[in-house]
Amino acid sequence: MKRTLTILTATSLSLGVYATPFDKGDAKKGEELHKKMCISCHAARFGGDGSKIYTRKDRRVKNAEALKQQIATCNTMLATQLFPEDELNLAAYLNATYYKFK
Ligand code: HEC
Repeated sequence: MKRTLTILTATSLSLGVYATPFDKGDAKKGEELHKKMCISCHAARFGGDGSKIYTRKDRRVKNAEALKQQIATCNTMLATQLFPEDELNLAAYLNATYYKFK
């Protein structure tokens, strides 16, 4: 009984602290990086300001894990050598702005 309570308390505490998957990321830094490294190519291929790729109907990214994966894949493909922290910041920005995964 005591153990169950401890687990419940720990779970609700961590839910409270991490309300969204990328709360530890800095969305502001992510936005800067995104402007510098990501928009021009997306805009060239998909038109507009490059944000269509995140809002199109058949977008590929369907959950938080997939968003993390996609950013890591882009990073490897582009050889941009982002740090894990940069990827997290990018994820925080994209999620807060477009994807809104919980
Ligand atoms: C050289 C061009 C290019 C650059 C630079 C680029 N991307 Fe992409 N990105 C693409 C293309 C093309 C797709 C679409 C792939 C598809 O639909 O199969 C894509 C798709 C994505 C998606 C998935 C969109 C969806 O459908 O939900 C995310 C997220 C993404 N890119 C993030 C980034 C981030 C973050 C950066 C900067 C670090 C970046 N990309 C830089 C070309 C690029």
